[in-house]
Amino acid sequence: MKILLIGSGGREHALAWKINQSPLCEQLICAPGNAGICEIADCVDIKADDVDGLVQFALREAVNFVVVGPEVPLALGIVDDLTQQGIAVFGPTEAAAMLESSKAFTKDFCTRHDIPTAKYDVFTNVADAKAYLGEMSAPYVIKADGLAAGKGVVIAETKEEAERELDEFFSGKFGDAGECVLIEEFMTGHEISFFAIADGKSVLPLIAAQDHKRAFDGDKGPNTGGMGAYSPVPGFDDEKRIMDEILIPTVRGMAAESAPFTGVLFAGLMMTADGPKLIEYNVRFGDPECQVLMRRLNSDLLDMMFKAAKGRLVDVGLVEWSRDAVVNVVVAAKGYPGSYAKGEVIKGVDAANQMDGVQVFHAGTTRSQDGALLSAGGRVLNITAQGKTVAQAVNRAYKAIDEAVNWPGGFVRRDIAKQALPNKLCQTSFEGK
Ligand code: AMP
Ligand code: GLY
Repeated sequence: MKILLIGSGGREHALAWKINQSPLCEQLICAPGNAGICEIADCVDIKADDVDGLVQFALREAVNFVVVGPEVPLALGIVDDLTQQGIAVFGPTEAAAMLESSKAFTKDFCTRHDIPTAKYDVFTNVADAKAYLGEMSAPYVIKADGLAAGKGVVIAETKEEAERELDEFFSGKFGDAGECVLIEEFMTGHEISFFAIADGKSVLPLIAAQDHKRAFDGDKGPNTGGMGAYSPVPGFDDEKRIMDEILIPTVRGMAAESAPFTGVLFAGLMMTADGPKLIEYNVRFGDPECQVLMRRLNSDLLDMMFKAAKGRLVDVGLVEWSRDAVVNVVVAAKGYPGSYAKGEVIKGVDAANQMDGVQVFHAGTTRSQDGALLSAGGRVLNITAQGKTVAQAVNRAYKAIDEAVNWPGGFVRRDIAKQALPNKLCQTSFEGK
């Protein structure tokens, strides 16, 4: 098959690496890709949100199968457009992608189908929203309805702060995404990412991974796209409840509402004292979670995605996973998730890739005319490492960062997977070399 993969992050580098291992893959093209992806796929410079450009390209190049990495083209309806042109594609339609593109849709959907989630209400004007605060207690969870690149959620500690935030949400802080605002009950518990693949009718569980959303050690600093991840998650044994109470009712419910869901269902869950509750859905693999999933997956991902796209998930056999631990430490540009420099030279990635158990996936990288590797985004490299134990995987990842990767403009969190370690390793700050 001739495959077109859409996206340019660490998630897509990991997907490209895995797709390339499939005997079904004859040619892999990636749009737009990054410096790492371009080493293993043919890259074409079409942006992930240029839906018309991507569809025209797929038609012109007689692509057999399209895999969509990020959420934006899904929310823009790329799956509907490709399907209309007769091109097979893995991902949800625009209507099914509403599970990510509209938090209000998802919460109302959960109510209709009895899926456990935080109590909430939805508002389109500031006065009603402020009045509702009186019915809730602190802390207050305030969310923009639409896609806001992971930044549309505020947890306000006091009512005054919540009121100030509501003023900002309704005065366009998040553009269209904030015209409709949700206020939710604050849930306490441990947060986890759980992944599954659906084919419209049925749903196949993958595995759980742990993300680290905050920028700095000790879960301090602003929220980011994710600064690291690991899998397996020690002690996690809630798959059956998550499937029975959340994922199966979701896939059934979407089919019953004439928006059957095909693609990756990524449930952001709070493991509360009353059991797992849905925080939010994403309709694609998580980044940086995908990178650890792909390194643990022994089965043929491309085969699974193609069968799901054809509504034949039942034909996928047992999904096999390595028992090893995999850790991913993200190297980001200093300043991320705020403003940061681009175009800085990064050295040592090849040396890191030679180290035991280490595989580097690129995110925001590009090449200079003379072939030097340059930073080109906020999250720049993913240092993944596999080990027989979490401790071994963690040590391997940080060893690669300390002894091989050379980029003074980068920073990492030093406590990725620390909570999964028996002896809670702690190391000093990464300053590059
Ligand atoms: P979301 O984009 O909806 O996943 O929210 C971003 C982050 O805000 C989540 O990863 C949680 O850490 C936190 N969060 C969102 N909703 C709630 C809630 N109802 N209770 C507690 N924390 C929440
Ligand atoms: N790591 C969380 C996400 O991909 O949304």
